[in-house]
Amino acid sequence: MSLGASKAVVQVLCRPVTQTGYSEHLVNSSDLTLHSTFQVKCVKKRPPRHRHSIRCSSMHLSQLRRTHQLRPMGVSLVNYMNYSGSWFQTCKCQQSESASGITAGDGNGAWSVNNIETSNSVNNLANAKSILEFQDVQQLKQEKALTSKIANGTIPDSFSIEEEAWDLLRESIVHYCGSPIGTIAAKDPTSSNVLNYDQVFIRDFIPSGIAFLLKGEHDIVRNFILYTLQLQSWEKTMDCHSPGQGLMPASFKVRTVPLDGDDSATEEVLDPDFGEAAIGRVAPVDSGLWWIILLRAYGKCSGDLSVQERIDVQTGIKMILRLCLADGFDMFPTLLVTDGSCMIDRRMGIHGHPLEIQALFYSALLCAREMLTPEDGSADLIRALNNRLVALSFHIREYYWIDMKKLNEIYRYKTEEYSYDAVNKFNIYPDQISPWLVEWMPNKGGYLIGNLQPAHMDFRFFSLGNLWSVVNSLATMEQSHAILDLIEAKWSDLVAEMPFKICYPALEGQEWQIITGSDPKNTPWSYHNAGSWPTLLWQLTVACIKMNRPHIAAKAVEIAERRISRDKWPEYYDTKRSRFIGKQSRLFQTWSIAGYLVAKLLLTDPSKANILITEEDSELVNALITANPRGKRGRKNLKQTYIV
Ligand code: GLC
Repeated sequence: MSLGASKAVVQVLCRPVTQTGYSEHLVNSSDLTLHSTFQVKCVKKRPPRHRHSIRCSSMHLSQLRRTHQLRPMGVSLVNYMNYSGSWFQTCKCQQSESASGITAGDGNGAWSVNNIETSNSVNNLANAKSILEFQDVQQLKQEKALTSKIANGTIPDSFSIEEEAWDLLRESIVHYCGSPIGTIAAKDPTSSNVLNYDQVFIRDFIPSGIAFLLKGEHDIVRNFILYTLQLQSWEKTMDCHSPGQGLMPASFKVRTVPLDGDDSATEEVLDPDFGEAAIGRVAPVDSGLWWIILLRAYGKCSGDLSVQERIDVQTGIKMILRLCLADGFDMFPTLLVTDGSCMIDRRMGIHGHPLEIQALFYSALLCAREMLTPEDGSADLIRALNNRLVALSFHIREYYWIDMKKLNEIYRYKTEEYSYDAVNKFNIYPDQISPWLVEWMPNKGGYLIGNLQPAHMDFRFFSLGNLWSVVNSLATMEQSHAILDLIEAKWSDLVAEMPFKICYPALEGQEWQIITGSDPKNTPWSYHNAGSWPTLLWQLTVACIKMNRPHIAAKAVEIAERRISRDKWPEYYDTKRSRFIGKQSRLFQTWSIAGYLVAKLLLTDPSKANILITEEDSELVNALITANPRGKRGRKNLKQTYIV
């Protein structure tokens, strides 16, 4: 690398974060190593008004690379049936290396899953034999049926689906200055209206990134982490207003533009969208949270901790945390957000404290705590983070949880209680329990509701929030099992012919008109309004693996395989039983492809799920017991540090 080039690289990598009061700038040898592979000169320019970008100019930009050299290593569809068997064996040989239950890696990226509750492990293993004997018989029957379906071409075999998925995933890779930095949202040749599906979405890249990590291809994830971090530092403005520093973009695009003053050259520009161009102008609260989760997964999977230790990365983590932990008018420890601030990025009545954001927030706090390097200036932040973890976990476990018992309590609630010890703290009127819920709630099972506000419980089941609360132990062990019990009990509603309903049930009639604003894309049982999203397979798989019940996910994957490739990897499916490809669904949607691949890879080697799982933290449990927010408390008794 020439001196000029390295200077330019340093320019790119210096984060102008003075607005936030931070003075940490990065320049270290690893930065230069990363960029020394670029055969391009990278310069950063101040973008024009209201338009912010990072540039990389090149005289000889290499063609985008398309590699198809790797064959998938998956298992055949028939082998699915053996997952539960091998699962118990995997658990037997695991080694726990930490008292808190979080297992440590062996330095080579091989991680063991420590996911059996100690008190349950003996029973689990004792029961395993008889379960397996029963399963063996069932499996044999199913194997026979499946083998004949594959043989007569009714179902494509799992191996060829995986192979196709890998080819498509690689084709979706976006390059910047010759290096892979992300995957495009969809590459649908049948769609004339691209909208922003030609961009790299932060949330959509997570399953792609995990798939690449699991495959041992770490570079694309490292590049993604570092370049999106660069985008975080820019000022963002919409109609003269700038949101808080630390926000990560929803998506970004690599644009090739002529180089100023030189007709023979072009430069590549990274152009982020923080919501100022997005439909509905929604700010993506989930982007930064997912970024932190991916950063931890990268370190755990690759063994390369140098990325998370970099000063600019540490600063990036802190900026996200400070934005989320900033004081506001809130009485609740949950994050207060607008409608459409996450995967559901249109108006769907989830403004307030939606479960999905809370579950991601909890994960981000846990992951950040694991990665932050202690230093003088961060003690306050760590204290605030710990307090929030305790309060958030109590709040969600206690007030978001419903099952038959809790529903019956709510049904008998007294209202208008004015006191510190009110049972019905949020003044929920029992009439809010909709008839569908009375019918729907199974005797065995339960779930976390979608949202909680004063006098309002959103009883809809939101899948991502529930699944991720299992993955990160925001839900207790008991609650986590109950969530999976509910999924099994409500299989025909939540999975039906294609996994997995984004939420249940759909908003219909006047409710749909009022809550969605008569959104024609979100008609009942379509898109965000209880449509089915194959990408959710990967979160389902991690949750099932964590709870030692991988066969549930394996069953869902098998159902997906019957159609997903034949249907050209749709973004979502419509109708109550997910029978149709979604009305406006993109085909070749990358996170449908990547979600499927992650599910397959993890079911083949469940121990790898540990890069995403966070186990229940014993310190946190102790803090909850000490704080005892459930106990009676008059004003004078309120001595604890934790405000719940
Ligand atoms: C839709 C989804 C959103 C996703 C985007 C790109 O807007 O609602 O979650 O990130 O498409 O796939």
